[in-house]
Amino acid sequence: MEYKLRKAEPKDVSDILRLVKELAKYEEMEHQVTLTEKELLEDGFGDTPFYHCIIADIQGESSSDDSKVVGFAMYYFTYDPWVGKQLYLEEFYVMDEYRGLGIGSEILRHLSDLAMKTRCTGMMFVVAENNEPSVQYYKRRGAEDLSQEEGWRLFRFDKTSLVKMATPAEE
Ligand code: COA
Repeated sequence: MEYKLRKAEPKDVSDILRLVKELAKYEEMEHQVTLTEKELLEDGFGDTPFYHCIIADIQGESSSDDSKVVGFAMYYFTYDPWVGKQLYLEEFYVMDEYRGLGIGSEILRHLSDLAMKTRCTGMMFVVAENNEPSVQYYKRRGAEDLSQEEGWRLFRFDKTSLVKMATPAEE
């Protein structure tokens, strides 16, 4: 099956949201997705993009068929004060029926090339503890499990905590 990787464009936001929801469903957390296409459009394609996406397209059976978005990676750049620039892999997903064709590996190759080009010193990501196939997928490619090896724990201040700490809104 022929596939092609390309940078996401504004027209892709509905497919991006579809795949975000599919991945959340795979992780049994679909109900936590509240993002909208409008937000994806504003946040990814405005003056200051907050994320970037690589899209995997499959061409339809005949040459007149439209291509179909079957996978994607969402990433952005972060900064580690010890070692410098890092690529952060936020989402990585290929639709079930298109897995095992090498699309995921090609996306990782693309991101590794980008990391080299931009002189990043690493690529960070979080994997759900029960997503054992992906844990093994990453480990086979050399990823280190930092929670296990270095004891880091993942934290978040949710909106309620932020509101409590923030400057009170004026009456
Ligand atoms: N389904 C899944 N995996 C299969 C497969 C199938 N039908 N057939 C083969 N595989 C194995 C391959 O052996 C290969 O392993 P290896 O290269 O390490 O030996 C791997 O799974 C598939 O490699 P590849 O084709 O390069 O990747 P992919 O296109 O299947 O995409 C993921 C990889 C992780 C993006 C994809 O499996 C996925 O979307 N998984 C569910 C979502 C997920 O867990 N995402 C990561 C969140 S942290």
